[in-house]
Amino acid sequence: MKKVLITGAAGFLGSHLCDRFIKEGFNVIGMDNLITGDMENIEHLLPLENFEFYHHDVSKFVHVPGHLDYILHFASPASPIDYLKIPIQTLKVGSLGIHNLLGLAKEKRARLLIASTSEVYGDPSVHPQPESYWGNVNPVGPRGVYDEAKRFQEAMTMAYHTYHGLETRIVRIFNTYGPRMRLNDGRVLPAFIGQALRGEDLTVFGDGSQTRSFCYVDDLVEGIYRLLFSDCADPVNIGNPSEITIKEFAEEIIKLTGTTQKIVYKSLPQDDPKQRQPDISKAKALLDWEPKVSREDGLRITYDYFKGFSHEKLNQRDHKDFKRYSVI
Ligand SMILES: NC(=O)c1ccc[n+]([C@@H]2O[C@H](COP(=O)([O-])OP(=O)(O)OC[C@H]3O[C@@H](n4cnc5c(N)ncnc54)[C@H](O)[C@@H]3O)[C@@H](O)[C@H]2O)c1
Repeated sequence: MKKVLITGAAGFLGSHLCDRFIKEGFNVIGMDNLITGDMENIEHLLPLENFEFYHHDVSKFVHVPGHLDYILHFASPASPIDYLKIPIQTLKVGSLGIHNLLGLAKEKRARLLIASTSEVYGDPSVHPQPESYWGNVNPVGPRGVYDEAKRFQEAMTMAYHTYHGLETRIVRIFNTYGPRMRLNDGRVLPAFIGQALRGEDLTVFGDGSQTRSFCYVDDLVEGIYRLLFSDCADPVNIGNPSEITIKEFAEEIIKLTGTTQKIVYKSLPQDDPKQRQPDISKAKALLDWEPKVSREDGLRITYDYFKGFSHEKLNQRDHKDFKRYSVI
């Protein structure tokens, strides 16, 4: 049986990837230090014979006994609230973490796929963003800890590919949503749904004219699966090009949830990207991939998931006491 190590397994995307690889008949090792993840996301996998969980921080040396065929590196704080609270861990997992995993991949002769992000394009001056665009990132701005960690991670991965001949894949993920996101992680979709469910007004930062493009998680997982088994070592954008302004998006959530609350505006955070839309021509040509789930269907499934939350869970503001985690 082929064996895959998935880091960040207890997180939103990592847990969906675990589900997919289990479904495809792989032996799956999930690894996570639970800094932003939740064991609830993979609870259903724990009794399975072909699933193992390692509670481990990948910024420290990573040991996995036996053979490994594939490594998917998804461990990293991913939302602005998280990486602003834990900036040093974010930089460490994108640098020390990837170095440890590249070493492991080299030792095991495994193929490694890394989760990069549309944030490598920063606040883009090219629209939509093709893979050939080098980006517009402020390295010392608040988002620099995440954006530069991801840019370093890509550079390091490419160096192992060219210097050591390691088989590597780089996916640049654009905003993705679905069940198992955290309501309180500051990402726009759970933030709006959480506010609607708590009966609060929906907060739009800026005038709401900035755009985002939202991809449903099943589409993303399909794209990643195809990329892993392709022969493309260069970065590939995976996301949904259907672009919407944040104001229109808030209006869609108001309609979906039936809330009687209104939109309130607050000032835009520093370096917030004004536009976000993937150019997916490369994924279409190389992987024969494009998103299939409409925003209407994806939002309905996601809303149904959050609707089941208890009052306590809906009102939980802080996910974790991040101070427990070393920042050295
Ligand atoms: N969700 C998106 O829209 C999106 C977009 C672009 C890129 N990404 C990337 O995808 C990956 C997963 O994002 P997500 O949305 O699932 O976030 P998430 O916070 O839900 O999951 C990240 C997981 O990584 C774990 N983790 C963090 N640091 C770790 C460490 N040092 N060692 C072990 N585990 C660690 C966390 O505990 C968590 O379970 C991240 O690398 C993120 O940058 C996500």
